[in-house]
Amino acid sequence: MYKYWIYDSDSKTKLNHALSLSIIYKSIKWFILSFKKVPFNKKYKKNNIESKLFFDRGFILKSINLKLFSREFLSHVELGIKDLKKRKKIEEKNSGNYRTFESTIYSFDKNGLKEFNDCEFGKKILETVNNISDDSFKCKNIQLHLNYPNETTQVFTNSNIDLKNNKHIGFHTDNNINTIKAMVYLDIKNGDGAFEYVPNSQNWTSLLSFSVKKAIRNSGLMPSNIETLNKLNSVWKFIRLRSEMTAMKASNPIIKSILIKKERLGESPGDVVIFNPIGIHRGGQVFKSKRIALQIIFSPEEKIWAI
Ligand SMILES: [Fe+2]
Repeated sequence: MYKYWIYDSDSKTKLNHALSLSIIYKSIKWFILSFKKVPFNKKYKKNNIESKLFFDRGFILKSINLKLFSREFLSHVELGIKDLKKRKKIEEKNSGNYRTFESTIYSFDKNGLKEFNDCEFGKKILETVNNISDDSFKCKNIQLHLNYPNETTQVFTNSNIDLKNNKHIGFHTDNNINTIKAMVYLDIKNGDGAFEYVPNSQNWTSLLSFSVKKAIRNSGLMPSNIETLNKLNSVWKFIRLRSEMTAMKASNPIIKSILIKKERLGESPGDVVIFNPIGIHRGGQVFKSKRIALQIIFSPEEKIWAI
C-alpha cells in the first residue's frame, strides 16, 4: 500500500537532495515516536461494538439532543460564529467568494474547553470515546467550522488547484497521532455537507507511510497548491508521500477504492460522528445551505497529538 501514497506527477523537477535527507531524518524520528501508538495498534476494548465500529469505519451517534449543551458552552459557540462571520466579511472585501481554510475555523479557548467538558453533551461524547480504547482520552481541542454554499474552498483542504469536477476532492488522512475525532453537527440541512469516511481505510496507512507523511507535512509540503506540489516533486520519489488525495491521479488504486467505498455520516443536527483520523475522510462541500459543525479532538496525551 505504501507506493500508492506516492505523489506521481508528470512534471520533471530537479531533485533536492538536502530536502530529501531532512525528510528521511524527520521520518525516522516520527517512526520511533509513533511506535506502539494508537493509530496502529488494536488497543480497543473487546466485545465493544462502538470500538469495533471505530476501528473499522467510524460511527455515528444519531441525533443527540442539542439541549444537552449548556448555555455557557453555547455562548462560546455564539462568540465563534460572530468571529467567523466577521472574518468572512473581511475576506469578501479582499478576495470575493474565496475563503482560506483557516478563516473557516474558530478555535475555542481554555474556558470554552472547560464548558464543553462540564456540560452533559461533552460528558456523553467523552464517555463514548473512552469506551473505545483502554487509554483515558481527554478533550484537547475544539474547533468551530462555519461554511457557506458555493464558497471556493473545501472544508478540510485549502487547495487552489482543485477542479470542481474532481470526484475525490478533499479526501485526506490526518497526521495526528493517538487521536480520536468527533464531528458534531449543529446546523446542517438535508445532509448538505455531510462527512464522508472510507471504511477500513485506516488500515491503508502503515506506521512507515504515516511517519513519512508526517515528515512531509512538517516540512511544509502538504497544502495542495502549485508551489508545494512542485517542491514535493523535488524530493526523492520513494518519500514523495501525500496525505491529501486531491491532486492524486484518478488511476491511483486508493482513489478508485475511495469512490467505491465512501460512506456518508452525519446528516442531521445533533449527529455526532466519531472517527479515526488516520482513515481517509473529508468534510463534504456545502452547496445549498450554511453548515455549522464542531470538530472535537480527543487524545490521552498532553502535547503529542498536535505536533
Ligand atoms: Fe481531517
